[in-house]
Amino acid sequence: MAPPPRLPAGAAALLLLLAVASRAAADGNAVDVGVNWGSQLSHPLLPKSVVQMLKENGILKVKLFDADPWPVGALVDSGIEVMLGIPNDMLETMNSYGNAQDWVKENVTSYGDKLKIKYVAVGNEPFLKAYNGSFMKTTFPALKNIQKALNEAGVGDKVKATVPLNADVYVSPDNKPSSGAFRPDIQGLMTDMVKFLHEHGSPFVVNIYPFLSLYQSDDFPFEFAFVDGGKTIQDKGGISYSNVFDANYDTLVTALKKAGVPSLKVVVGEVGWPTDGDKNANLKLARRYYDGLLKKLSKKEGTPLRPGKMDVYMFGLFDEDMKSILPGNFERHWGIFTYDGKPKFPMDLSGHGNDKPLAGVPGVEYLPKQWCVFDDGAEDKSKLPGNIQYACASGDCTALGYGCSCNGLDEKSNISYAFNMYFQMQDQDVRACDFDGLAKITTKNASARGCAFPIQIISAAAPAVAGVGLSAAALLALLMVLV
Ligand SMILES: *[C@@H]1O[C@H](CO)[C@@H](O)[C@H](O)[C@H]1NC(C)=O
Ligand SMILES: *[C@@H]1O[C@H](CO)[C@@H](O)[C@H](O)[C@H]1NC(C)=O
Ligand SMILES: *[C@@H]1O[C@H](CO)[C@@H](O)[C@H](O)[C@H]1NC(C)=O
Ligand SMILES: *[C@@H]1O[C@H](CO)[C@@H](O)[C@H](O)[C@H]1NC(C)=O
Repeated sequence: MAPPPRLPAGAAALLLLLAVASRAAADGNAVDVGVNWGSQLSHPLLPKSVVQMLKENGILKVKLFDADPWPVGALVDSGIEVMLGIPNDMLETMNSYGNAQDWVKENVTSYGDKLKIKYVAVGNEPFLKAYNGSFMKTTFPALKNIQKALNEAGVGDKVKATVPLNADVYVSPDNKPSSGAFRPDIQGLMTDMVKFLHEHGSPFVVNIYPFLSLYQSDDFPFEFAFVDGGKTIQDKGGISYSNVFDANYDTLVTALKKAGVPSLKVVVGEVGWPTDGDKNANLKLARRYYDGLLKKLSKKEGTPLRPGKMDVYMFGLFDEDMKSILPGNFERHWGIFTYDGKPKFPMDLSGHGNDKPLAGVPGVEYLPKQWCVFDDGAEDKSKLPGNIQYACASGDCTALGYGCSCNGLDEKSNISYAFNMYFQMQDQDVRACDFDGLAKITTKNASARGCAFPIQIISAAAPAVAGVGLSAAALLALLMVLV
């Protein structure tokens, strides 16, 4: 092995100085809040560019939903702290200790010190009532196996396993935080699990969604959903709550106390506000929500029962067009950035109220400027309903509903919107703009007032994801590798 080249003392000092200077710059804009980076996009952005954007915005904590080496590889040497995920469908596999050891070896220890892994999220909201108890038996054993494998691999003191849970694992019969307790059907399991987390120095990770409180009940006091709202509720002992986020958090704090672990650390794994797909999901309300939340976090005031700094991850980074819309049409619109990596509204992640546009993802490339629209000159329109249904089922019509950004379209543009979303998702394949002869391709921007007809980006993923041959960019990249 050749000895490392020696630098003259002056150069070494200069390098050290530069390193210190750039560290200072990085710390200068670093923010405390983390972000969820989901991957259910038909056209993913290049992970390296996403990481560059995160750093430019000072975001130094990310939560992932798996351990895909593509995004994880881009986080290596970035200085960004990572929460890796194990999807629910792998929980059963992790009930074998050997498999848990393999997972830790491949997805944690193989990166050595180059990746700042802080947590492993074992499952994602596995006790959600909608799952009908499917993961009830496999979650806790998986958690124990992963923590044991981390410990035996010698990284257990700095990497902690936990389970992100939805706020529906605890309840309060009278809606008062002081009456909080774990849901009766899982009380025993939750008590054992939080004791385990406590013993291993792991946090409780909870997802809290004020938007859903509003969405699920028309009687929910609107202002109470926002951190800067005027509405307050009173609890026992003269404690008053000014917003549902704090009240919900303290309901958990009470439940933890009842379970015998009053000091267990709490991390908010997801909180955010969607911008489309519902009458209360829009840019204005999302901006209001984040402004209030970020200001609150910057003051490090915490909640009445847990004063002090909070550990919070926003949900989420990008709009994800492949997410299931079973919970509601808003599901594909949680991003603080659009599908193509542009900031949606001005924010100040430090919470100081100096809102400005965040840095977007650099170097994003688009498909050609062409749209697929309804051809109203077509003679036979009998097959229209079936084709609209098909376009919406395989594409994305979540912006067309009541109170959404494209709700005001006339019937013709409405059909065009559905056709275009499908066409773009299919990488503008000409076969995806036929619809039994009812559609045509146009180079005239089809966007209407307030309703953007998007042009899809060139996917950074392997072409197989989009399902249509090699893209021009992929071919070019291949040629460049060969040359
Ligand atoms: C590591 O994580 C990836 C991505 O989540 C997963 O597909 C893979 O199976 C994991 N490795 C092992 C050995 O479990
Ligand atoms: C849960 O049960 C309901 C009603 O029986 C069913 O429609 C749904 O598909 C089930 N979900 C899962 C994840 O098993
Ligand atoms: C627009 O399309 C959506 C989705 O197909 C449909 O629910 C809605 O009724 C349509 N509206 C108009 C005005 O045609
Ligand atoms: C199409 O028009 C909309 C609305 O004016 C605009 O926001 C969008 O950037 C345009 N798209 C392209 C590709 O020029």
